[in-house]
Amino acid sequence: MDVVTTIAAARERRSVDRTAGRTVALVPTMGYLHEGHLSLVRRAHTLASSVWVSIFVNPTQFGPGEDLDRYPRDLERDLALLERENADVVFAPSAEEMYPEPPKVTIGYSGLENVLCGASRPGHFAGVGLVVSKLFNIVEPDAAVFGQKDAQQALLIRRLVEDLSFPIRIDVAPVVREPDGLAMSSRNTYLSAGQRRAAPVLYRALLTARDAIAHGERDPRRVEVILREVIAQEPLATLEYAVCVTQDDLQPPNRIDRPVLLALAVHFGTTRLIDNMPVDPKEI
Ligand code: PAJ
Repeated sequence: MDVVTTIAAARERRSVDRTAGRTVALVPTMGYLHEGHLSLVRRAHTLASSVWVSIFVNPTQFGPGEDLDRYPRDLERDLALLERENADVVFAPSAEEMYPEPPKVTIGYSGLENVLCGASRPGHFAGVGLVVSKLFNIVEPDAAVFGQKDAQQALLIRRLVEDLSFPIRIDVAPVVREPDGLAMSSRNTYLSAGQRRAAPVLYRALLTARDAIAHGERDPRRVEVILREVIAQEPLATLEYAVCVTQDDLQPPNRIDRPVLLALAVHFGTTRLIDNMPVDPKEI
């Protein structure tokens, strides 16, 4: 496994793959890897002959007062995990390498970036779009793998690739969960023991709401009430949003007559957790 830390070295390593006739699948991450990330690496192996993983805690997607400075980092451990998954190349640049000066270009998505997570994290998806565009231009992958865990991010990346004509196949992998249903996240390490015990309430709320749709509920507002009620049963949880929206434009439908996304953001103390579940009323 090769580890490169500069853009020039990444481009050189990429040309080695190209000369050897290898296709490349990229898994962009911010490190502190868990089974969710590793599931993306395994998918990447099915999409291309050379698997690249980027590890970069991207400052431009963190707002003032967010957890940029305390975001967990452990490069040695990450590299050991990726070695075991037979990753071919790890690109782990510094912030100075990626942003020698503050970027002036911003990526917008005509409002799609201001709903759900974007409503409380202004500038977040602009930063994600910028760094992912840079990674795509540096690595020039044939495919890139993202997680459904960050449903809005995956949707906006698809729009980015479509609108900017990146010749890259985007693959979205299902959410990987702990045995009790909590979606895996690098931020789960922030939870106290009590908060960790309470955190599976997100998954329970999603299952309860999906169940209601399976039993014929077609009013998205009623489904949102169900999500809110389950979260409210957990005293340590503070709700940020609970929505039932269409999968393509993240807007509330009049009725649930097409695939919807159930999505939640919930705070436990200072820790913010998100989770979601796509539901097709015709298939449950
Ligand atoms: P990060 O939070 O490290 O996540 C990297 C990738 O792993 C994302 O595509 C995310 O959706 C996926 N992922 C995280 N937890 C998962 C889980 N439990 N199951 C399945 N996939 C999971 O998302 C980012 O980093 C950044 O925004 C990034 C795209 C790297 C841009 O900086």
